[in-house]
Amino acid sequence: MSAASSDELIWVPKAAAIAREAGARLREFFVQGVETEYKGDVDIVTVADRTVEKLIRTRLGEAFPAHGVYGEEGTRERMEGEFRWYVDPLDGTTNFAHGFPQFCVSLGLEHRPAGTAPDRDGTIVAGVIYDPMRDELYTAERGHGAWLNGKRARVSRTQDLAEGLVATGFPSRKRHDSPNVHFYQEFTLRSHGVRRAGSAALDLAYVCCGRLEAFWEFNLNPWDTAAGILLVEEAGGLVTDFAGGAFQLNSNEVLATNGLIHVEMVELFKDLFAGRNLEPIPTAREFAQRRAERAAAGLPR
Ligand code: IPD
Ligand code: CA
Ligand code: CA
Repeated sequence: MSAASSDELIWVPKAAAIAREAGARLREFFVQGVETEYKGDVDIVTVADRTVEKLIRTRLGEAFPAHGVYGEEGTRERMEGEFRWYVDPLDGTTNFAHGFPQFCVSLGLEHRPAGTAPDRDGTIVAGVIYDPMRDELYTAERGHGAWLNGKRARVSRTQDLAEGLVATGFPSRKRHDSPNVHFYQEFTLRSHGVRRAGSAALDLAYVCCGRLEAFWEFNLNPWDTAAGILLVEEAGGLVTDFAGGAFQLNSNEVLATNGLIHVEMVELFKDLFAGRNLEPIPTAREFAQRRAERAAAGLPR
């Protein structure tokens, strides 16, 4: 597909401008430093989260007066409308509060045609993620591809989990209930490594542009995932639940991959959930041997 000129796009140009403005505000707060407040036992929030959500809510209202807005910091506006923006004004608050420069703004647009039952997903039609520290803007409209700073973004072509770099995250609420640390260990030993960089939306954006082969997480919310899942799909990847079934915005769990290692990951999830004995994890030497065999057979890595 050739570059989607901005006049073909309906929502992205305005949403991208809003994400850039919001990101610039986050950058200012980041440089000046902010106080941390607790909204749960270990779940933190800052003045930046609240101020930037307010800014985004105002700007979305000006740009798309009929659209609903559903934001992490409490915004619920025009929820009965046909279109709804899922807003994470600051994805990566813990990083932000610690001065760790990995965070972003995430805006995802869902189309909910009249008659869509409240517990049913509509279709995600647009997504924008902006990383203000790297000035990286990820955009997608359904059917028009995924883009990073105006250049086409595509998922990686790596075929094997063993050759992949993957990512996950851990919830700040009820984190002791999460089984993910076991998955973390298993995937660490079966891949080039697992990154836990602290921004789910950026993790999804990185799958979209091939920096990561996969991302999974338990307990996410629609504002974390709405934009990123469209980016991954439009970049040629696959997004499902852990069983390989349809991803639902409210199902909490997400598995996003380059598509090529999806079945392998779903199979591993199945075994881990069933508590089955997993295949012995190959040693480093066996990894190298397999790589050599693939190369000798002329297969891609
Ligand atoms: C969090 C980040 C983190 C993920 C958590 C999210 P927040 O979002 O995306 O990477 O592991 O589950 O809650 O609270 O920084 O917007
Ligand atoms: Ca978030
Ligand atoms: Ca947030």
